[in-house]
Amino acid sequence: MKVANYLSLVTTGLSLLVATAMGETSVPAAGQQLVKRLATTAITGQKGAILFANGKPTSCEVALVSNLIGYVAANCLSYSADGSVDMSQNYQVMLSDGTTTSLGMFGVHSATAHFKYDPTSFANNVALLKFNAGGTRQWKNYIGANRADWSSKFYVSRGVANTGGSAMPAWQPAQAVVEAGDVTSQCANASPLFASNMNDLLCTTQVITTSSSCALPYSTVYGVRDPNLAVAGLYSHSVIIGDSLCKYTQIYNYYTLLSSYLEWGGNVAKSTIYLFVADSNYVNNNNPNFSMAVPNGKPSGLVVGGDLSGNTPKPTLTPTPTSSSTTSSPTSSSTTTSTTSSSTSPSSSPTGTTNSGQNTEKKGINIGIILLIVGLVLLIIAIVAYLLYRRYKKRKEQNQRNFMDMNDDAGVGEQDFNRNSRGSNMVANNGQGHLNVPMNMPYERKGYGY
Ligand SMILES: *[C@@H]1O[C@H](CO)[C@@H](O)[C@H](O)[C@H]1NC(C)=O
Repeated sequence: MKVANYLSLVTTGLSLLVATAMGETSVPAAGQQLVKRLATTAITGQKGAILFANGKPTSCEVALVSNLIGYVAANCLSYSADGSVDMSQNYQVMLSDGTTTSLGMFGVHSATAHFKYDPTSFANNVALLKFNAGGTRQWKNYIGANRADWSSKFYVSRGVANTGGSAMPAWQPAQAVVEAGDVTSQCANASPLFASNMNDLLCTTQVITTSSSCALPYSTVYGVRDPNLAVAGLYSHSVIIGDSLCKYTQIYNYYTLLSSYLEWGGNVAKSTIYLFVADSNYVNNNNPNFSMAVPNGKPSGLVVGGDLSGNTPKPTLTPTPTSSSTTSSPTSSSTTTSTTSSSTSPSSSPTGTTNSGQNTEKKGINIGIILLIVGLVLLIIAIVAYLLYRRYKKRKEQNQRNFMDMNDDAGVGEQDFNRNSRGSNMVANNGQGHLNVPMNMPYERKGYGY
């Protein structure tokens, strides 16, 4: 058991060495271990927003397009009898510049749900919000559109401290986790909608564990193209195998990817929506009438979605003695899975073969000693590999910082064209069925015949 662990450690270490030796060429297609991952703390520097309803923060986040528009999950809004968004709810957006700096609170003056939003299956669970954040200061944000570009995904939640009073709420540091584990088939089994729309939905079992050991799904998903990242999708709903967010055996969380809804959004907003794309040959879905297929089957569990702040479990619900952790650390880039932990059996020592009987004892001890030595050697190799990797990473970060400093102009936390260093480009979707390339971009004209 232990030996196997050492081996996997060494494999990881060696892969990293190989990656180092190869320099930072493009991301290898196979084997995620080769990919050096951007830390989740990189979420600092990204603008984000939370939807407020009637003066209270919801658990819903807004994928910002600009200082004027953003996407929110349609099931975060209330609707009038005629099917339009109920604007008597006093919707507002609170914007952050990076993780904890506030850009302020702004009234939503228009909200439009997707024309095929289905409140039962949560198909096409997107809505477009218009607001005016920033008066004269204009900025734009980029939507991560091409999944093939991404080396990893970050699931992210922003939150505000409950101030209670009338003062402006304060941002809490964002929570973020790297996607871990492939749960596609389980997610598809739990949700026919997901099974039928895998290009436009993501699924994860990862959740924030609250102090009351209840699950809180992350609000957004970001596509990571090291050293860049861009918001790519919004939390839609969860299928829970169990009774509630506090009492379950499994939870599948589904996210609506925005790329197929950019053309629709551009039409609704009469505005340009910008994509973040690294592959210059990538062509986004530019059909404004796109909608998901709605399958007949039902999810195999309890469905919750939209604003979960009302569902936010009170600490009294299920007292669990093992809840030592509060919330997952935003600084951690480690991968946490709530699902796989149960499958690892208690580890036995490498000398475990000695317990087979008196007459085989000596032989067992010999094998045990050999295994122990092999294990130790492998451990030493792993440690050396890890240290080498650390040094490499440190140097890389230094380089990256230098690069950022060089390119970061006056815009605080604003993503700008120069920020993308590795052949990444951003192209605009102008809402007219064309993909346009904004000015002053070195590579980008190639690959777009418009
Ligand atoms: C989208 O639907 C509208 C209304 O039905 C139609 O006029 C338009 O041609 C469609 N556009 C595309 C690209 O299919």
